[in-house]
Amino acid sequence: LLQHGELPNKAELAVFTRSIMRHTMLNEWLLRFYRSFHHNAHPMAMVATIVASLAAFYHDSTNINNDRHREIFSHRMIAKLPTIAAASYKHALGQPFIYPRNDLDYCANVLNMLFSVPCEPYEVDPLHAKALDLLFILHADHEQNASTSTVRLAGSTGCNPYTAMSAGVSALWGPAHGGANEAVVDMLEKIGDVSHVPDFLARVKDKAGGVRLMGFGHRVYKNFDPRATIIREMCHQVLGKLGQSNNPLFELALRLEEIALKDDYFISRKLYPNVDFYSGIIYRALGIPREMFTVMFAIARTAGWVAHWSEMIADPTLKIARPRQLYTGPTQRDYVPVTKR
Ligand code: CMC
Repeated sequence: LLQHGELPNKAELAVFTRSIMRHTMLNEWLLRFYRSFHHNAHPMAMVATIVASLAAFYHDSTNINNDRHREIFSHRMIAKLPTIAAASYKHALGQPFIYPRNDLDYCANVLNMLFSVPCEPYEVDPLHAKALDLLFILHADHEQNASTSTVRLAGSTGCNPYTAMSAGVSALWGPAHGGANEAVVDMLEKIGDVSHVPDFLARVKDKAGGVRLMGFGHRVYKNFDPRATIIREMCHQVLGKLGQSNNPLFELALRLEEIALKDDYFISRKLYPNVDFYSGIIYRALGIPREMFTVMFAIARTAGWVAHWSEMIADPTLKIARPRQLYTGPTQRDYVPVTKR
């Protein structure tokens, strides 16, 4: 839908699905890159690096003016991101990389690569795969968010598209953007208990320490982020089915939301929970560690990034993006030799 503007018919879906499945593996040489990372490297740093490195593997077959090359590039990105993400996780654990399994669907394959080990059988829980699927759909695209605009800005130069995607991964990592899901769980753990919420909110409102209520506020949504409502409902369902209905982190998040939404500071600034407020709670319930939350976001947003990039490159009126600078600093500056500075 994102790529072509229409849902595929049955035959088109079969071709698309097969193409994604046939591109899930990574070049073995690329897998060796992981060995150069320290065991505690942040997975987002590894993902950004490996995605950029794909340019070195496909440089000769990525003619951005060729429709078919653009399509294969898009499929490779969507197919390989889970493999790249899971390898980053396994590297940190010191466990063997798990190869993709093309008999599994997209989300079940992600979970299998993250959690299975070669020495014992692992069954993907269909509920977990369904929850991940919902999160991936909700995160897949969101018009000109910072990372997508970054992909477009970099891509508008005609650069190798894998490097444009890597720029998008890097932009996503920031706590004001996709890194917020990790920051929310950090914040909730630091708050620890509902009784500490008033103190925490006082610090947020005081602004002195630069503390923000993470997972709240949005540049565009000023009257609720509809994705937050869906994810909150999903939290109830997933935690209920996992026997974690009284999950303390979720209860704390619900109370924090309730208290903040009655507070004039948040009301007057139109600050509501965004997509990241509850997503980390589901990821955690699925056993996904905190440092992988933004990586999960990156897997999902890849579909949006490649669709934006393809649309932009196919546009015959494409020009390089060049934001205009309005300079407001000093005008005349005299050169002072270094010995006199
Ligand atoms: N906590 C406390 N105060 C806030 C928050 C917050 N989360 N967000 C905005 N404000 C205040 C801000 O201090 C400012 O106050 P004042 O008018 O007194 O100066 C006012 O609200 C407007 O803030 P802004 O920074 O101009 O708002 P923005 O639209 O530029 O920022 C935002 C949007 C998402 C960067 C910001 O709300 C934020 O930092 N939120 C926390 C991080 C977060 O959850 N990010 C995820 C965003 S959604 C998913 C995604 O993009 O990946």
